[in-house]
Amino acid sequence: MTIDDHDALVALLRSTPGVTLRAADGRDATARYLARNPGLSFVATDGDAVVGCVLAGHDGRRGYLQHLVVVPAARGRGLGARLVGQALDALAAEGIDKTHIDVLASNAEGLAWWVRRGWAHRDDIRRLSFVRSGRADA
Ligand SMILES: CC(C)(COP(=O)(O)OP(=O)(O)OC[C@H]1O[C@@H](n2cnc3c(N)ncnc32)[C@H](O)[C@@H]1OP(=O)(O)O)[C@@H](O)C(=O)NCCC(=O)NCCS
Repeated sequence: MTIDDHDALVALLRSTPGVTLRAADGRDATARYLARNPGLSFVATDGDAVVGCVLAGHDGRRGYLQHLVVVPAARGRGLGARLVGQALDALAAEGIDKTHIDVLASNAEGLAWWVRRGWAHRDDIRRLSFVRSGRADA
C-alpha cells in the first residue's frame, strides 16, 4: 500500500459495515502511518481496482493489524487470508512474532473469521483509550 491508494482505501472502508472510519484514516495521518511502517500494509488489486486492504504496523515489540477489508464481490477466494499472511510475513521480517487486532464486539462474523485462523480471543484484557484532544472521531 502507498499513499496513492488512499482514496480507494477510504472508499473501501466507507462501504464496509463493521468498520469505523476515523480522523486517523485521513490522508496526512495515513501518509505518516505508512512512512513509520514502510512495506507492512497491503492492498489487493483486480486490474486497477483496489478490492482489499490491510494496515499493519509495530511498536518495536508487538504488531498491530487494522482495517482488514475485502469487497463483497471478491470475498471467499482467500484474499483476506493472503493479505493477513503478507502483513504477518513482513512483520516477522522485522522481528515481530506477536500481533494484535481490535475487532468491534458487534462484528460477530469478523470475529469468527479471525478465530478460525487461530487468533485467540483475549477475555483477560480490556482495552482502555484516552483521547487528548477530546475529538469524538479521533
Ligand atoms: C473478513 C474478510 C476480510 C475476509 O475476506 P475474504 O477475502 O473473504 O477471506 P478469505 O477468502 O480468506 O476467507 C473467507 C471465508 O469465507 C468463506 N466464503 C466462501 N465464499 C464466500 C463468499 N462468497 N463471501 C464471503 N466468504 C466466503 C471462505 O470459504 C472462508 O471460510 P473460512 O473462514 O472457513 O476459511 C471479509 O469478509 C471482510 O471484508 N469483512 C468485512 C470487514 C471485517 O469484518 N473485517 C474483519 C474485522 S477487522
